Amino acid sequence: MIQQIQTLQVEVLAHLQTITNESALIEYRNQILGKSGELTTILKWLKDLTPEERWTVGKSANETRDIITDAFEAERTRIKKDLIAQRLSSEQEDMTVPLLREHGSLHPITLVQREVEDTFVRMGFDIYDAMEMTSEYLNFDAVNVPKTHPARDMQDTFWLEGKWNVLATQTSCMQNLIMRNKNTPIRAIIPGRVFRNEDVDATHDNTFYQVEWIVVDKWIGVSHLKFTIETMLSDIFGKKVDIRMRPGYFPFVEPGVEVDFSCPFCDGVGCKICKGSGWIEFMWAGLIHPNVIREGGLDPDIYSGFAFGFGLNRLVMIRYGIPDMRYFMSPDVRFLKQF
Ligand code: DAH
Repeated sequence: MIQQIQTLQVEVLAHLQTITNESALIEYRNQILGKSGELTTILKWLKDLTPEERWTVGKSANETRDIITDAFEAERTRIKKDLIAQRLSSEQEDMTVPLLREHGSLHPITLVQREVEDTFVRMGFDIYDAMEMTSEYLNFDAVNVPKTHPARDMQDTFWLEGKWNVLATQTSCMQNLIMRNKNTPIRAIIPGRVFRNEDVDATHDNTFYQVEWIVVDKWIGVSHLKFTIETMLSDIFGKKVDIRMRPGYFPFVEPGVEVDFSCPFCDGVGCKICKGSGWIEFMWAGLIHPNVIREGGLDPDIYSGFAFGFGLNRLVMIRYGIPDMRYFMSPDVRFLKQF
């Protein structure tokens, strides 16, 4: 029997040399070491031997099984290595071939958002992403919009269940969080996506982008506000842009202003874009209401600040002459490819 085992070993080792692919190797392994494989069958006979025979034959059988198992393993590694070497020499990538795949382009909102961020980073502002799900408290109460105030109706809200129960209707919902979590002086811009339950038309969408901006420090006044808006707009349009302010109402600011800027396309003379007026209505701003500062954990007798918010979609529409807001959310590549 020992003879038989050794013959099998010699045969297997010799046959292994002739195998060149993995599936043949697996098949041969089953034939020898599988459940009813040749070596397994021999090992099953061991139980019919006397205890002394079993000891000697068993020892040799186990050795053979180990040798054969190792040989199969080594063979498998060799076959894999050969395969890799073969592929490396036959499959070559020509790095100089130009890529045929078409590249996408950045969305115009992203492009202008980055420009806005750039001008503010240069002025030393931090950038925070606005939350899209927020709470009734942050979206309304913390920015001085009382429970019964009609301003809550001004922004038809998508309500959710749970702690974060509001889809942000305005990036102003970040003001409180930032005041509470950052040390003064605070200089931050907060771009984000906001949602309102509105009928969709060429100038309204239920999902759009805003940029919020807050500055909180000692002795902050309207002149800082004016300078910062002018700097941002002049940067974006690549020429000096003037602004004018009209009184406006928002519960988070006192005084509140609506801001127009001089039409950069006709330099204030009057054109199609500014509808002949020479001015473009653009954003809302003001000095942060003392209640909002207090709710942010700061003393309004010491700290003051200003805030503004504007619709990024609208800025992009003016910048690129896009006539309809609905293009932004549509997947039409003819539109997207232009940027
Ligand atoms: N959150 C306002 C809106 O979405 C816009 C706004 C007005 C933001 C005045 C401000 C502000 O920061 O001071 O309609």
